[in-house]
Amino acid sequence: MSENSSTARARHPLEPDEVTVRAWLDQAASLVLEHLRALPEQPAANAANALDEARALIEPLPEDGADAGELMRKVVREYAPRSFNTAGPGYLAYIPGGGIVPAAIADLIANITNRYTGMFAPAPLLARLEMNVLRWFLDMAGFGEEARGILTSGGSLANLVGLVCARHKLLGERFQDGVVYVSDQAHHSVAKAARVIGFPRDCVRTIETGEDLRFHAAALRDAVTRDRRAGLRPAIAVASAGTTNTGVVDDLPGIAEVCRDENLWLHVDAAYGGFFLLTERGKKRLDGIERADSITVDPHKGLFLPYGTGCLLVRHGADLRAPHQAETGYLPTLQDDAVAQDFCEYSPELSRDFRGLRVWLPLKIFGARAFRACLDEKLDLAERAAVRLAEIPRIRVLAPPDLSLVTFRYEARPGEDEDRANVALLERVLAHQRVWMSGAWVKGRFTQRICVLSFRTHQDRLDEAIDLIRLEAGRGA
Ligand SMILES: Cc1ncc(COP(=O)(O)O)c(C=O)c1O
Repeated sequence: MSENSSTARARHPLEPDEVTVRAWLDQAASLVLEHLRALPEQPAANAANALDEARALIEPLPEDGADAGELMRKVVREYAPRSFNTAGPGYLAYIPGGGIVPAAIADLIANITNRYTGMFAPAPLLARLEMNVLRWFLDMAGFGEEARGILTSGGSLANLVGLVCARHKLLGERFQDGVVYVSDQAHHSVAKAARVIGFPRDCVRTIETGEDLRFHAAALRDAVTRDRRAGLRPAIAVASAGTTNTGVVDDLPGIAEVCRDENLWLHVDAAYGGFFLLTERGKKRLDGIERADSITVDPHKGLFLPYGTGCLLVRHGADLRAPHQAETGYLPTLQDDAVAQDFCEYSPELSRDFRGLRVWLPLKIFGARAFRACLDEKLDLAERAAVRLAEIPRIRVLAPPDLSLVTFRYEARPGEDEDRANVALLERVLAHQRVWMSGAWVKGRFTQRICVLSFRTHQDRLDEAIDLIRLEAGRGA
């Protein structure tokens, strides 16, 4: 006689019955919908003075279970709101992430089906969906048939794997005399990656950017010449397609030229700017990126996906595969053709989440057109913000935005410390709790920045941001 469901549930609590699972899904659905409804009016940030509350959450491993609905309610209604509102329309700080809904639904399906996509053989059709996503990105970058990519947890890991490929290809195993060139505006993850993979600190060369904060070809060429004379092996140049500080796109064609002449690997960190390639304006502004050997793009930035989705694209797939190939006696047969990719052969990871579905499902549901329109909107918004900011007395826009990041400074009155005045202005603007912006210290100066990349940021909220800046700039001492 089969045991009834309550006995089975008691015996196998990790396998709840369908009624229970449905109730959990319904509760989770109600809570996320409630969250989405409240999102636009939630404060732009609510994470201050939360240490005592965080401390109160410290607890021993629970021996017995608790009510799922109650736990979910606590997370969504109490814990999540004590944070920067990174998913809301007022998030203009750092490089905004995304959080489009179908990606979460994809994660639910991926995690419940829990198929193994680290290799091709265990789930060929699902692995192929992820390959499709990679192919779309490789095409977007202008790479050919022999190119391969890999989805990572984010841009930092993509930068790291890019450097590993370059090091393996150009320097081999004894690379302590190899030199990596980064600009003084490169994201810190690049120099960190170089250190993590074993480059001595003094072989990571920081090249000074020009007045325009761009990494220029001439500076690279000079540094390479000096290092060759010193008996070192110049190997890798990292350019940015949209710096984090100011959104500037480096001189990609010029740097590509130097890399060709000097036989350097060109890695382009397009974690912020890469998906603007889906737009006509973006393509023009990122001209030259197609000459890179490897490119980092970050779907959890420019494709509006939830945090945890980065991507590395490599011009010659063999260069991505070579440092990651491993021999085992117990795994299924590995594939080696254009249709079938074993992701573990192209990445430091073996087991991993099925990231591809999180990208594939939204792109299929909405189509590329919807993403392109949203990215175009961000470019428009940044342009308009730059114009409106420039109309405010004492606000100086530093340069027209290359992409969707506007930088500006509040000009000091005689005798006033300009950096301090800028920090104070930012604090006054943030205190309204409608927008969250972050400044950056750029070459020793505090620079204000508005980065428009949240898919939920539209003209109304950006106009509100500018109105607040105008109001508070007018109130300045
Ligand atoms: C230009 C650039 N590169 C790399 C990164 C690191 O990406 P992630 O935070 O996804 O690791 C960032 C993050 O903002 C970035 O802006």
